[in-house]
Amino acid sequence: MEMIFSIKKEHETIKEYLDRLRYFIDEKFDFQEFSKTFKEFVNFWNAHEQKEERFFMTLDNLEFITKMNFEHKAIKGYKKIISMALETHYEPYIKVTLEIDGKMMINRIQDHIRKEEELLSKLKNNLMVVI
Ligand SMILES: [Fe+2]
Ligand SMILES: [Fe+2]
Repeated sequence: MEMIFSIKKEHETIKEYLDRLRYFIDEKFDFQEFSKTFKEFVNFWNAHEQKEERFFMTLDNLEFITKMNFEHKAIKGYKKIISMALETHYEPYIKVTLEIDGKMMINRIQDHIRKEEELLSKLKNNLMVVI
């Protein structure tokens, strides 16, 4: 049960990061600030992902585990594309990348979190798993 709360709490932090990243894309871009926030976000996300993957292994739901792990890999791809764009330091290219891949990453993560939250609620209600 403690693990469910901890993952849910981290989802809230991730959503806050996504709002901040979206603000840079939609409203006001600042290379230094964006890079700093993005790096922080990636570190937070990586730790969250590892924790989740360990937790998912304890669940008796292979279909869900496979799907979520696949989505983690897909999200990793977006993060890589954005990191590579930032390394160029070339703002027009970075902005186009964020407009396309940045927004896609944000949408996919939001969708991914929604699916995980659905499962976590079910677990909480049914106590399908002993934690
Ligand atoms: Fe996840
Ligand atoms: Fe998650």
